[in-house]
Amino acid sequence: MTTPAYSPGLEGVPAGETAICTVADGLSYRGYSVGDLAENCSFDEVAFLLLHGELPSAARLQEFHAGVAAARRLPPSLKDLFAALPKWTTPLDALRTAVSALGHFDQDAADNSHIANLRKSERLLAQIPVAIADQYRIAKGLPVVPARQDLSHAANFLYMLRGEEASSAEVKALDVSLILYAEHEFNASTFAARVIVSTLSDLHSGVTGAIGALKGPLHGGANEKVMDILLAAGGPDQAEAWTKAALARKERIMGFGHRVYKAGDVRATILKKYAGAAAEGAGATKWEETADIIERVMAAEKNMYPNLDWPVGRLYHAMKLEIPLYTPIFAMSRITGWAAHVIEQLDNNRLIRPRAIYKGPAPRTVKPIAERG
Ligand code: CMC
Repeated sequence: MTTPAYSPGLEGVPAGETAICTVADGLSYRGYSVGDLAENCSFDEVAFLLLHGELPSAARLQEFHAGVAAARRLPPSLKDLFAALPKWTTPLDALRTAVSALGHFDQDAADNSHIANLRKSERLLAQIPVAIADQYRIAKGLPVVPARQDLSHAANFLYMLRGEEASSAEVKALDVSLILYAEHEFNASTFAARVIVSTLSDLHSGVTGAIGALKGPLHGGANEKVMDILLAAGGPDQAEAWTKAALARKERIMGFGHRVYKAGDVRATILKKYAGAAAEGAGATKWEETADIIERVMAAEKNMYPNLDWPVGRLYHAMKLEIPLYTPIFAMSRITGWAAHVIEQLDNNRLIRPRAIYKGPAPRTVKPIAERG
């Protein structure tokens, strides 16, 4: 077998086959463009599509919603675990720990059959928002808010977090962001999950690893860094000079650039109007104006365009969500993509075990320890 050319970061390397998603000709999930899904579906329908392969009928959606909503609870000891975590624990790290811990309590934990993996996926879809909201409130010394079964994924999360129902505009904007975050082919966290389960490990281990991969600022952690960029830029008056100076210092402007999309990310275009409307609704358009200036500078200086995290950071900020919650919210959506990939991998598994190009010392022999310098 000839050795394929090496591609740093595996750029452009096909590392598997999937029927879940493609980034060719714009992003689509199981054949539907994300624009079509964002326009015409709820996140709950998209979650069903990713896990089950087709959009649900009204009756099937109701059944799916009832099953997921009934699983919106955690084993009581998870609350003790959250209370025991050091006060500096970030919500994303707490979520990673929670998903790992939830594996101990799942009755299907060791069953890797397709049907058991679907049951576990739907439970994690239900439990992750509860874990984020409970840990957030416990860390603040607030009483936890029991989940509501009548609300959608997005509406229930905001309700549990705040203890009051969110406006329909807020629910819609969060819902669209969740649709856009749900799935993205062989991104780093999904690929990590596939590698983990390819050893015939289990879904909770794959998702725990995926959350660890999502955390980094080059991937999911970027949505939290977007607000740092805007705050550092200071406002519309300073934004152009600040961005040029940051680029001159060779800094990365988080929320820009993408391994796959070099001419722009369709998801960022779709969400921009929701970020703008939320800012107008909050009577605070300063960060939208600042963002527009940074976008112009990045296009002119670097030929680089926003990715989804750029409008997400502003949208969540306008919704008065605290910055350390942004990447956990990404996870609360991407659990659908991770789970779909874990199931697809295990349905047709082969161990993922690539090769490395060796760059170390030439062969040598061990000297007795007394003779080593
Ligand atoms: N700002 C300034 N310069 C950049 C940026 C940026 N956001 N992104 C890449 N570059 C530069 C980089 O410094 C490098 O320059 P040079 O060749 O002079 O060293 C060049 O562009 C190529 O960088 P790379 O890291 O090899 O490019 P990549 O295609 O592998 O990077 C990326 C993709 C997303 C890691 C990168 O664009 C980045 O770091 N962006 C900021 C972080 C971010 O927004 N991440 C979210 C990605 S989308 C959501 C998700 O999937 O999680």
